[in-house]
This record gives sequence, structure tokens and C-alpha cells, in this order.
Amino acid sequence: MKIFLSKITLALKKICCIGAGYVGGPTMAVIANNCPESKVTVVDLDIEKIANWNNHDLTKLPVYEPGLKDIIKKNRNKNLFFTTNIKSAVSEADIIFISVNTPTKIKGLGAGYASDLKWVESSARTVGEFSSGHTIVVEKSTVPVRTAELIKKILSSYITNSDKLPIKTFSVLSSPEFLAEGTALKDLENPDRVLIGGEDEKAINQLSLLYQKWIPKDKIFVTNVWSSELSKLTANAFLAQRISSINSISSICEPTGADIKEVARAIGADSRIGKKFLNAGPGFGGSCFQKDLLNLIYLCRFYRLEEVANYWEQVILLNEWQKTRISKLIIETFFGTISSKKLALLGFSFKSNTNDTRESPAIKIARELLENGADLCIHDPQVSESQVAKELNRNDYKTMKIPNESNWSFTNNLKSAFENADAVIIVTEWEEYFRINWKMMSNLMRRPSWVFDTRGIIKDDNLIGTNLNFWKIGKGFIDL
Ligand code: NAD
Ligand code: UGA
Repeated sequence: MKIFLSKITLALKKICCIGAGYVGGPTMAVIANNCPESKVTVVDLDIEKIANWNNHDLTKLPVYEPGLKDIIKKNRNKNLFFTTNIKSAVSEADIIFISVNTPTKIKGLGAGYASDLKWVESSARTVGEFSSGHTIVVEKSTVPVRTAELIKKILSSYITNSDKLPIKTFSVLSSPEFLAEGTALKDLENPDRVLIGGEDEKAINQLSLLYQKWIPKDKIFVTNVWSSELSKLTANAFLAQRISSINSISSICEPTGADIKEVARAIGADSRIGKKFLNAGPGFGGSCFQKDLLNLIYLCRFYRLEEVANYWEQVILLNEWQKTRISKLIIETFFGTISSKKLALLGFSFKSNTNDTRESPAIKIARELLENGADLCIHDPQVSESQVAKELNRNDYKTMKIPNESNWSFTNNLKSAFENADAVIIVTEWEEYFRINWKMMSNLMRRPSWVFDTRGIIKDDNLIGTNLNFWKIGKGFIDL
């Protein structure tokens, strides 16, 4: 039986979160919803983002997550606030969550591997400067092991003992976030576990009581700080490894006549393996798997564990290979010539139910097709055209050459994506792509026409009688 502490008065009345992104926004909305007696303030430097969190039109919220609009509507401006007034929110807070971005460094020592902690550092300085009294500071961002030490060091330079000033002290805890995008609210409301890493028992207890408002106590694990930080990197490394493993097997299925769905079902029935996270696809995307693996690899090399670093690096290499193998296969299907062919790319977010495009496999696949002269028509139900443009033109440490004559368009209308297309490529498993009426839509395409299903979502039977040529991940070309 779940026992929650709804009757217990929390010591943490004023809660602040620095960073109003994919983690900060939904996480604080769930805390506000479950702790009505606390005031939760989410702050960010990004004026436009905060304006959108406050927008009356809830379709303009900066994050798309199922259920998010409702929970924001219910709590916003009651006990949940979004503001750029960082000073005031920090100074009144009993507890501050740091949920800022920690991307891979693009220059300097460790570029391409280590996490850039400048946003965490600047948050710590802000807390140091504006906080008052005793403040619990919680690392919610995913960080390299021993970052709490860095935060403590920064904060310690702000500790005041003077008679005239109120004494300023801090307790630093680690409590990494395990939510997945697209299911963020479900994950936050009913997590498998939450971690609290720290030394200060009083602070641990206060944070635990906050979580216990809606999370059973046996799901709250208390560890030392370094285990907490390392567990977050390890969880993402294991999950990413699982996807590279199933994707590697998908490539063996295709030439051998095995079917990846059947293989996944067969191995997943072994309770030691488990059936979740065994969907072969175009490679994992999202802001974290690659970044956190790179971070882990950097840490291994730092401690001179070269073999361990190489082991984890292979997960990323396989992931890159999977994306390229798909674009190559498409190009080779057209005998090497896709210039002036209209290819409809369905889905640009890195997975369904999110508008997030960070590290989406669609980016690399689209770029490789554009480099080969394709006329790409991109469709996504939640991603905006400007976001697609940003991703296709972004230059970063590992960017391939940006196509000179980019020839792509964007549409929200599935029909116009299909019209005169030579091929349709499913890259994201959006619900509406499961429901495509292939008999009707294939008539809009130019003949001969192709479908490449990189998510394995189309039932073979749905294409019978369509004249479509069909390739499916982990099954290969299928005779209909
Ligand atoms: P995000 O980029 O969506 O949001 C971070 C926000 O922090 C931005 O809006 C940025 O403007 C703001 N910010 C940066 N420095 C600031 C400062 N000094 N003061 C105020 N605001 C500042 O990032 P995210 O996806 O929410 O991820 C945040 C952290 O959580 C990362 O470390 C990530 O690895 C981790 N994480 C992310 C997810 C996810 O699903 N996205 C899940 C678990 C953990
Ligand atoms: C992932 C983890 O699942 C979260 O626990 C973690 O908190 C988060 O990273 C983080 O640290 O940011 P997320 O990236 O949002 O969450 O989404 P996932 O559902 O894990 O998917 C990641 C990628 O793997 C997506 O591109 C998805 O399409 C792909 N994937 C996932 C597959 O190709 N096959 C699968 O079976 C599962």
C-alpha cells in the first residue's frame, strides 16, 4: 500500500529551479502539483522561453509533452511560477534545483567528449550571490562524477559568517533526473526510483520528504554523491548500449531472412533480458545518450581506463553507422542517383511525442540525402520548420559538410508530402504514421514508388495491393 505524506507540512516552502527546459519545466510542474503548500518558481535566462511558459495559449509552451498543458493550466500562477527574475526567486528559496544544460564541450580540453559545465558553474555563482540563510542546492542536471565538489567549492566562497550579514550556508545534494521525453509526466508521477546522493542527513531527509508527497519511500534511494552522479551516466550508457545491440542485430536479420521483431520477442521473453527497449530503429537520438556516453568515455580516459573507454565508444560508433547505413541503402536502391528525386521524410523529432530534435537520427539521414542531391520534403506533426532549418544548418564539432544546394521543404500536411514522391521514409514513430492509409496515399506518389520504414511500424498486410516497394528495418526488402 502506498503511504504518502500529504498531511505532513514540508519544511521546503519555497522551491526554485534554475533552467526551464525539458527537465526543469515538467519536473517543477509535477512538484507544484503534488506539493500545493509550496511555492515553486522556475527561472531561466531565456526571455522568450519564459514568455512561452507563461503564454495563455498553451500550444505555445516551449516543451511538448502529453499531459503537460493540463498540469500547467491547473497550477500556473497558483503555486507554480515562471520568471526571469532569478535574483528574487533564488533569494527566497529553501531549496534550489539546478536543471541547466550540460552539453558536450565543442572546444578546449576534452572537446567532443567532456561536458561543458559553464551553465552549472554560472548557476552555482548565481545561487552563491543571491541566496540567503541556509539553502539546499540539488544537482538535477546530468553531470560528470565529482561535479558536486565543484559546486561546493564555488558556493563555499560565498559563505558568510559576519555579524552584520545573515549567515549564508549550503548543503549540496545530487538527485539526477531519469524522465524520458514523450513520457515525462508519467515518469515523474510514477518513477521506477529517485536517487538522493549526499552527506548532510538533514538535507537528504528534507528532500526525501518532498518526494514522499507522491513517491513511495521504498523508491527513494539514498547513496553517496558520487554513486548518484555515476548511476545517472551508467543508466543512460546501458540503455544506449541496448539500442546499439538490437540495431546491430537488425543489420544481420536483413541479409539472412531473420526478422528483428521475432528475434526481439524471443530474447525479450527471457526475464533476465526483458522486453523493453528492444525496438530496432534508425539509431538513438536525443540530447542525452550520446552526450552522457561521451562524458563517461572521457571519465574512463581520465582514469586511464582505455579499454573501458573503447568499449563504450563502440556504442556510439555503431549508432552513427546505423544512420549512415540507412541513408546509403536508400541511395543504393536508386542505383546511386537520388538527385531530383522527391523523398518524403516522415518525422524529424528524435522520437514520437516530443518536439525535441536534438541529435535526432533524422538530421544525419536528411543531410546525407541532401548531399546526394535529393529533393527532401520533411513532415513532422510537432517540430517547426524553423527548428528543422536550424538543425540542418547547425555546425558543430562533428558536422559533416553542410550541403551547398540544400533542397528541402517542410510541410504539416501528409498528403502534400506524398504527392509525386518517389519514396517515403519513416524516421519517427509518430502515432499518425501508424494510421496511414497506404492504398490511398500510394496513389499520390510517382511510380515506381518506395517505402523505407526505419522504425518497423508498418504492418506488411497494409501494403498489399499498393504496388509499393517496401523495405523495413531488421527485415529488409519484402515481397508483398
Ligand atoms: P534544456 O536545454 O532544455 O534546458 C536548460 C535551460 O537552462 C535552458 O532553457 C537555458 O536557458 C537554461 N539556463 C542555462 N544556464 C542558466 C542560468 N545560469 N540561469 C538560468 N537559466 C539557465 O535542457 P534539458 O533537456 O532540460 O536538460 C537539462 C539537464 O537535465 C541536462 O543536464 C540533461 O542532461 C539532463 N536531463 C535531460 C533529460 C531530457 O529528457 N531532456 C532527462 C534527464 C536529464
Ligand atoms: C533517455 C532515458 O530513457 C531517460 O531515462 C533519461 O532520463 C534521458 O535519456 C536523459 O537523460 O535525457 P530520452 O532520450 O528522452 O530518455 O528517450 P528514450 O525513450 O530513452 O529514447 C532515446 C532514443 O532511443 C530515441 O531516439 C528513441 O527513438 C531510441 N529508442 C528507444 C530506440 O531506437 N529503440 C528503443 O527500443 C527505445
